[in-house]
Amino acid sequence: MRSAFFPEVGRVTVAELPDPELLNPTDALIRVHAAAICGSDLHIRAGHITPETGFPIGHEYVGEIEALGSAVTRFSIGDRVTGPAAPYCRSCEMCQRGQHQLCQRGGILGSGPAMGGLDGAQAELIRVPWADQSLVKVPEEVSDAAAIAVADILSTGWSGVRQARPQPGETLAVFGCGPVGLSAVHTAKRISAASQVIAVDPVESRRRLARKLGADAVMAPDDATVEVIRDLTRGVGAAAVVDAAGVQSTMDMACEVVAVGGRIAELGIASQPFTLDFGRLLMKNATIWTGLGDLTRMNELMALVGDGTLDPNPMFTHSCTLDELPAMYDRLAEGDPEIVKVLVTVEGNKTAGEAT
Ligand SMILES: NC(=O)c1ccc[n+]([C@@H]2O[C@H](COP(=O)([O-])OP(=O)(O)OC[C@H]3O[C@@H](n4cnc5c(N)ncnc54)[C@H](O)[C@@H]3O)[C@@H](O)[C@H]2O)c1
Ligand SMILES: [Zn+2]
Ligand SMILES: [Zn+2]
Repeated sequence: MRSAFFPEVGRVTVAELPDPELLNPTDALIRVHAAAICGSDLHIRAGHITPETGFPIGHEYVGEIEALGSAVTRFSIGDRVTGPAAPYCRSCEMCQRGQHQLCQRGGILGSGPAMGGLDGAQAELIRVPWADQSLVKVPEEVSDAAAIAVADILSTGWSGVRQARPQPGETLAVFGCGPVGLSAVHTAKRISAASQVIAVDPVESRRRLARKLGADAVMAPDDATVEVIRDLTRGVGAAAVVDAAGVQSTMDMACEVVAVGGRIAELGIASQPFTLDFGRLLMKNATIWTGLGDLTRMNELMALVGDGTLDPNPMFTHSCTLDELPAMYDRLAEGDPEIVKVLVTVEGNKTAGEAT
């Protein structure tokens, strides 16, 4: 079968690999209809995440179950499903403690031997472990793009919003309008109590998307950002902040705009350590949370996408085929800001819905 492959830093190719097989009774084999490219895939390609090379890549997918291990009971062959980037067993100590993202028996799909050596999802076929625990059925009315969004970006953005806990009457400020920040904006507006959502990003087309997905106010980051947010909050500041950019300047702004008693959720994966003004946070009784997105509430998000409460489709600005994937990785690595999220269709396998 054909699969995206990471042969060396700075390059992704499409390679012919052996078809995956069921290895454990709890496994499922999925025929992939569509996959997506994640910011983390770009970090892997750039050599930031693991020193290893020579493995299949990709962790976001939707497809149809082709084969099931004998212990899988909740799914049938032919079911249309998606699943989390990091499949989890629900029985190890980390899973028992609710830290499913860090399952001791798991790993991250398509991220190399040091991270579990699991199959890559930008492929024709993928083996997914612990199918009963991880997989989520995709209703017919949900597009491939929207299903993939549930599995990673919506789950992560919503986790940040839940950690920042905006209450009625309060404002949530979101820094960074990539797929994760846009997902925070969208879930905050549609399914949190936030009364006002303010989105900040230097790229105009991304600010437009933030508006479309529900932001009440959008702005480019500059010297006036903190003042403008204070004005929009009657001088109080933002009670809830999600940083989905993860750079020094957004963290500085977050510390400045967070209200007394406010909460900051840091979702960005910093490529280098940054400093935090703890004195400033202390004098505001502010709380800071950071961590990986919670991927265990996909069923709830899928239902909300199915009934139209959430619509992540506008984030998918581009699409390509598996053959075109290496060139799309090049464009993304060059930093084309107009490309927000890419749907990768797998030729020959069925797809539902289109990228906008
Ligand atoms: N915590 C998790 O579980 C998790 C999961 C997925 C991704 N991430 C991380 O979340 C971050 C966002 O992911 P993404 O896929 O949306 O990435 P992205 O690169 O598309 O988005 C980052 C956005 O930040 C904006 N930005 C840059 N400088 C800014 C500034 N000074 N002020 C405001 N905005 C600024 C960029 O224009 C861009 O739109 C990345 O660091 C990614 O690695 C974390
Ligand atoms: Zn991802
Ligand atoms: Zn586990």
